[in-house]
Amino acid sequence: MLCSFTHLFLVLGTVAAIQVSTPSGQYGIGSRQYILNHITPNDPSLGDGKFILMTIYYPTYHKATKSLPYMDPANAKIFGDAWAYPNGSLETLQTALQPNAPFLEVASSPHLPTLLFSPGLGNNGFMYYGLNSELASHGWTTIVIDHPGDPTLLHLPDGKSVAGFDINFNPSDTEVLQIYDYRVSDMVAVAANFPYWVEESHAPFNTSHYIALGHSIGGAAAAGAASKVNEIIGGINMDGAFVSPYKNIEKPFLILNSVNHSSDPFLALNDVDHLSDPSQKDFIDIQSSWWELLSIFGAFHYDYTDAVHWVERLGIENKTQMPSLGSIGGDRMLKIVSKYTTEFLNFVLGENGCIFTHPSLEWREVIYVNGSSFPAF
Ligand SMILES: *[C@@H]1O[C@H](CO)[C@@H](O)[C@H](O)[C@H]1NC(C)=O
Ligand SMILES: *[C@@H]1O[C@H](CO)[C@@H](O)[C@H](O)[C@H]1NC(C)=O
Ligand SMILES: *[C@@H]1O[C@H](CO)[C@@H](O)[C@H](O)[C@H]1NC(C)=O
Ligand SMILES: *[C@@H]1O[C@H](CO)[C@@H](O)[C@H](O)[C@H]1NC(C)=O
Ligand SMILES: *[C@@H]1O[C@H](CO)[C@@H](O)[C@H](O)[C@H]1NC(C)=O
Repeated sequence: MLCSFTHLFLVLGTVAAIQVSTPSGQYGIGSRQYILNHITPNDPSLGDGKFILMTIYYPTYHKATKSLPYMDPANAKIFGDAWAYPNGSLETLQTALQPNAPFLEVASSPHLPTLLFSPGLGNNGFMYYGLNSELASHGWTTIVIDHPGDPTLLHLPDGKSVAGFDINFNPSDTEVLQIYDYRVSDMVAVAANFPYWVEESHAPFNTSHYIALGHSIGGAAAAGAASKVNEIIGGINMDGAFVSPYKNIEKPFLILNSVNHSSDPFLALNDVDHLSDPSQKDFIDIQSSWWELLSIFGAFHYDYTDAVHWVERLGIENKTQMPSLGSIGGDRMLKIVSKYTTEFLNFVLGENGCIFTHPSLEWREVIYVNGSSFPAF
């Protein structure tokens, strides 16, 4: 009798833990949060323009012994209500994050550049857990930058929250420029201040080499920051329009698009579903270093965030009003984005980047659009 009772308790104890995604690498996932004082003059967001939030995802030898909630209840309510999730469902999502887990020893750390990540407009940094935890599990350290007043609701380490843009906010052209400016300026500030943080906290992280990446306007900001900071040695824009004035960043740059994101005016004219984005061609035309533009078939804009996993893990695909998810599926999308991101990072560090010149059936959703190695006609 005792045995079966014990068994019952064990089963009950594990029932609610639905992991958003499961990192495949050898390391556990540490996380630390840190407020950086940084002034944004005339901040167009709803924050006070006085600080930004850095969330650092890093490799640790510690293994997670329990799950942590993926999002705070207030955000779960906002996203749940806006996109018609069953009440209480988003609250059940979990991560393997280990807040303040010990760093690796300097001697045994992999000596990789530090990644700087800027989210899409109105998106919280935590919405990129899938990619950033996968990278951390393979030894990469990412600083995800949240600008308070931009995500719909940002939860701070001291327990306070800052309200931001409405979930359906549609910025004017002027606001896009202002938002882009603070995203670039935030990345530049993080790169400038990170060395002090690393020294104070005796962390093994790289403060001489960075690679910038981001989603949507955050991807545009990655290009902007790469053109300004010498220590940033390359960048990736995930599905973002570039913001002018475009710069020749003179460093390797990868563009990953969703399938309907096209700078081809013919497609845009003849198919209302295609987003016409001339900025990508304007950006590409002035690059003097290596660049490549790939499009992922079946992927829409939000497939670059964890939101694609939310519906899948909860078993409610097609049952929410979640916008902009394609047919690709979360696990496949994360596999592709992690693979191409990692190959690009290693290419920047001197590997041959074979995947960028050799199409393969294994990655058949990835369509070569144009690039400096083999310019398309
Ligand atoms: C969630 O609960 C609220 C009341 O708190 C209700 O108005 C709403 O319809 C519920 N939503 C769903 C999707 O069940
Ligand atoms: C920083 O990254 C560069 C380039 O990969 C590497 O040569 C250097 O050793 C790294 N430094 C640290 C402290 O990890
Ligand atoms: C993308 O384009 C396809 C084919 O033109 C169309 O069926 C689909 O609705 C579009 N999706 C979005 C999210 O725009
Ligand atoms: C490919 O990129 C090159 C270099 O910018 C450009 O001249 C060419 O027009 C592009 N081709 C297509 C099909 O976009
Ligand atoms: C969701 O809808 C897409 C397209 O309508 C379909 O291909 C897919 O099988 C659906 N998924 C589920 C789990 O019902």
